[in-house]
Amino acid sequence: MKKKVLVTSALPYVNNIPHLGNLIGSTLSADVFARHKRLQGCDVLYVCGADEHGTTTEIKAREEGITPQELCDKYGALHKNVYDWFGISLDVWGRTHTDTHARIVQEIFSELDSNGYILEQEVEQLYDEKAQQFLADRFVEGDCPHCGASGARGDQCDACQQLIIATQLVQPISKLTDTTPVIKKTTHLFLDLPALTPVVEQWLSPRVHTWSASAEAITKQWMQELKPRAITRDLSWGVDVPGMPGKVFYVWFDAPIGYISITAHAREDWKEWWHNPEVELVQFMGKDNVVFHSVIFPATLLGTGTHWNTVDTIAATDFLNLERGKFSKSRKTGVFAEDCIRYEKQLPADVWRYYLLSVRPESADSTFSFADFQAKTNNELIANLANLVHRTTHFAHTKLATQKGALTPTQEAFIAQTRRAYAHIHELLDAHHLREALKETMKVAKHANAHFQHQEPWKTVATDPERAAADIRALLTIVQDLSLLVQPFIPHTAQRIQELLGVDGLTYENLAGAYDKPFSELATPQPLFTKLDDDLRAQLEEEFLPKTHPLDLRVARITNAKNHPNADKLLVLTLEVGKESRQLVAGLKEHYTTEELVGKHIIIVYNLQPVKLRGELSQGMLLASEDESGTVGLLLADAPSGTQLCVGETQAQTEAVTFDEFLTHTITSSAEGVYIDETPLHGATITVDKHAFGRVR
Ligand code: MF3
Ligand code: ZN
Repeated sequence: MKKKVLVTSALPYVNNIPHLGNLIGSTLSADVFARHKRLQGCDVLYVCGADEHGTTTEIKAREEGITPQELCDKYGALHKNVYDWFGISLDVWGRTHTDTHARIVQEIFSELDSNGYILEQEVEQLYDEKAQQFLADRFVEGDCPHCGASGARGDQCDACQQLIIATQLVQPISKLTDTTPVIKKTTHLFLDLPALTPVVEQWLSPRVHTWSASAEAITKQWMQELKPRAITRDLSWGVDVPGMPGKVFYVWFDAPIGYISITAHAREDWKEWWHNPEVELVQFMGKDNVVFHSVIFPATLLGTGTHWNTVDTIAATDFLNLERGKFSKSRKTGVFAEDCIRYEKQLPADVWRYYLLSVRPESADSTFSFADFQAKTNNELIANLANLVHRTTHFAHTKLATQKGALTPTQEAFIAQTRRAYAHIHELLDAHHLREALKETMKVAKHANAHFQHQEPWKTVATDPERAAADIRALLTIVQDLSLLVQPFIPHTAQRIQELLGVDGLTYENLAGAYDKPFSELATPQPLFTKLDDDLRAQLEEEFLPKTHPLDLRVARITNAKNHPNADKLLVLTLEVGKESRQLVAGLKEHYTTEELVGKHIIIVYNLQPVKLRGELSQGMLLASEDESGTVGLLLADAPSGTQLCVGETQAQTEAVTFDEFLTHTITSSAEGVYIDETPLHGATITVDKHAFGRVR
């Protein structure tokens, strides 16, 4: 019996188009894994589909003047189209607004209920008096009760990733009417997570350590205290809650059940995938989705008392940032999947796939930059892999058509030695370290290129054609191997390599044999890719990068410094910024005396949203650097106060930035200069006081 592997990627909300950050986090990563497992000979089912319920769908449908169903039809088709273009090898693509889904959700709910895991509670909820309705979580925004960030939604804070209870939002505003909601009582159902804690803990312990680092950390933090979780909402679009008119299940209760219902809707053998304990379940997602898959969904399934397959491995990615900012649906910055399709002539799907997988945020957040995209495409994909394929097939086709190229022990030894790397590559893939696996795969190509160079077949073909032919056969064997090794990552290219070689339908079992076709049968080689030149790169940067930089950094002169009246570590500074005078609160007391500070020309974030810190107004924030030993030194600028600095070539934006947005930028200092997200800061001579080079805040 073949091993059964069920692979899922987070069901995307279908009220918008995915950007490249979404793609690498879920579908693209899951696709690589699914393809690898198929080549290994497993029986794989890769399931995904549209997450159609939830408030955002209702909000968006309202905005577009169509029904939620119409909205889902429209965006669902767009999503599927995008995934097809990228070569995402879904076995099942479905949706959550189906009868099958509603039935399975209600069944699971009623089992939880009969097992006593559903609590009914009267709760206080935000009520919009103008709209005369209770406000579901996403219909309300305010400041985060955990970290203070503004713009937090009623369910989760993007800044600190913590879940929120809407009534705890500070200064809530209804998104329906822009009025301040009142608190009113209503009844909701809750999943009794505290009662399920021991079951979940026991379930987690053998598996959590095999997950990606962020998945493990997030889960453990969450398990420290589970609270009952509301699973109903006051909406009409969703799965009806039996016996509670006007309420539907919360989207995060119904959506994960979508993995099951989507399979059930499409496949008669769905129980073989969801009840048969032999199946291995691997789920791919971005880190913001982890708790739902690692704690809440398993708790839901375990609480039914029925055997459901629960996740074995959670493969979560961190965030992919964009140079100069973020991928943002709301702000429309960054590259969206549809944009890639527009550029398909110059940049086919595999070029994007290769780059995204080579910067996959596997152990920390990573950055998408066009310079890096260009470099990786030209220097790795083209100069290494495509070059190897082209020079070997071209050489065989043009110079060796009449040769047999029988391998001798020397070439056999080269092949065997090269193949020693494969087991490790496959281990990395099995452990979902996709980026690492790709890197190791490219080393195989590099090794083969070096061998080509070393054997000099272009010389030996004149003196010893049999030997040249044998060397090329050995190299073509590695090219054939590479067509398998790269297939999970860049399947279209793998296919083209196999077409060049005249082979087809290979699996990892073919990683043992040699390439055995006569050279005369090789197709006329065509280059696999065209270079990403400077003009194209400039065009991409022009189109996709924000024109302005979020941070407006200016030189300020400290005119006065005094202790903060209510905080031990803080100082209150008076600044002159050009003609303007500002007050700023800074945590500098342990590092500078007030006398040392006065007169210094420092750098401040001029457009930071003003805040009150322990009762004192702070209009901006100063930049200071901290070295490894903990020494803190101010960034000093040799320029008149008010001078505006520049990040790379961009202009500063005029709108204010929030503190959380500020935190998404990485600022570092070294003897060479100050860098914001790896782009140099210039416009004045900048020095770091006390030479405290390191991380800047
Ligand atoms: N729709 C969610 C998102 O895009 C993911 C849902 S995953 C599921 O962030 F498990 F709930 F389906
Ligand atoms: Zn927060």
